[in-house]
Amino acid sequence: MKRCKMRVGMVGGGGGNSFFGAPHRRAILMDNSAELTAGALRSDPAAALASAEELFFERGYGHWGDLVAGEAARPEGDRIDYLTIVTPNDAHAGPAEAAAGAGIGVLCEKPLTTTLDEARRLHAAVQAADVPFVVAHTYTGYPMVMLARQLVRDGLIGEVRKVEAWYPQGWLATRREAEGSKQASWRTDPAQAGASGCGGDIGSHAYEFIRFVASLRAVRVSARMKSVVPGRALDDDFGVFAELDNGAIGVVSASQITIGAENDNGFRVIGTAGTLRWRHTHFAQLEHYVVDRPVAIYRAGVDYGYIPGSIRPYLRMPQGHPEGFHEALANLHRTIEWTIRGRRGEEAPKPFDHPGIVDGVAVMAFLEASVASAREAGAWVDVPFNG
Ligand SMILES: NC(=O)c1ccc[n+]([C@@H]2O[C@H](COP(=O)([O-])OP(=O)(O)OC[C@H]3O[C@@H](n4cnc5c(N)ncnc54)[C@H](O)[C@@H]3O)[C@@H](O)[C@H]2O)c1
Repeated sequence: MKRCKMRVGMVGGGGGNSFFGAPHRRAILMDNSAELTAGALRSDPAAALASAEELFFERGYGHWGDLVAGEAARPEGDRIDYLTIVTPNDAHAGPAEAAAGAGIGVLCEKPLTTTLDEARRLHAAVQAADVPFVVAHTYTGYPMVMLARQLVRDGLIGEVRKVEAWYPQGWLATRREAEGSKQASWRTDPAQAGASGCGGDIGSHAYEFIRFVASLRAVRVSARMKSVVPGRALDDDFGVFAELDNGAIGVVSASQITIGAENDNGFRVIGTAGTLRWRHTHFAQLEHYVVDRPVAIYRAGVDYGYIPGSIRPYLRMPQGHPEGFHEALANLHRTIEWTIRGRRGEEAPKPFDHPGIVDGVAVMAFLEASVASAREAGAWVDVPFNG
């Protein structure tokens, strides 16, 4: 069978001042194995069509509903292979469910939805349709984060006793939402962002580190959420203690008021036999600590012999040449692409187990339990879903 480029659709991400559509487009095009086929890139139909033309999409649509219907009506081999959703959180579930219903795979931004109920409905639709589904926890696309997952699973650090995961930022230390920042204004609006601002936006990435790297799940949480900046409806500081499913301690800390923190996220997985630490500021390395031994540092590079076969296809460069944020995002696109090609019987590397629909729902359950706990001054609350 002749292999063709992936035909990729996109919802959201148009217009000069939108943020994350552009990194996705670069990520989709990075490996020359995919093209920008169909776009419904803005909420206003005329602006959506203009944006698709400006950004060289083959086909523009005025609304995501038209995109899904229009693509589903095209013959197989001519319609999009998957849909990338990069709208504000309240506009994820609609296009995701429609695409799944039409048998089209989805790469959806995080957090999956604005409520757990909505996430559960989407989960049911995706399960029924059995389409590939990836949630864009970008940091899980870094090869050293993937390696950490592999090493923990291989038992390198023994039994996990504690996981610390963090994500501080400082860009919302002032009321940017009152100064015309589009990104700040929907992220601080409960109707568009969901019940947690900081938790949903970046605490979600930190919690996913616990799930992805340590393969553990929060069963109970005690949370403290605060709107530090006066006049803000949602939390801009988010701290959670969690009891994990093996009895280990989980600590998730995220903040949008940490001036100077940039995107300094990371994790420490602490086991009976050692600790693994990764920091976004040093994304190409993974540190391994053992009592009374010098620290060992794994570094990214396709030519390092210790990179396992499950991760090697995700590296593009030999040691010392940085592969950063765009490559990590492109790796999530690789996962959905390789899943689709594999299902068709085409030759493709085995995809890594990046976050999918179940992880998306579990993060929403963690957020919902955290909000309930914070409202009760940190009372312990059970997490209602954990796949
Ligand atoms: N994975 C990551 O690392 C990461 C980083 C940044 C943002 N995000 C996520 O990406 C999403 C978008 O965030 P952003 O910062 O790019 O927001 P943004 O406000 O910059 O862009 C949103 C885009 O969606 C469009 N849009 C809004 N409603 C729409 C609709 N109904 N139909 C079609 N288009 C519509 C807007 O016109 C705009 O182009 C959010 O869910 C956010 O959490 C993820």
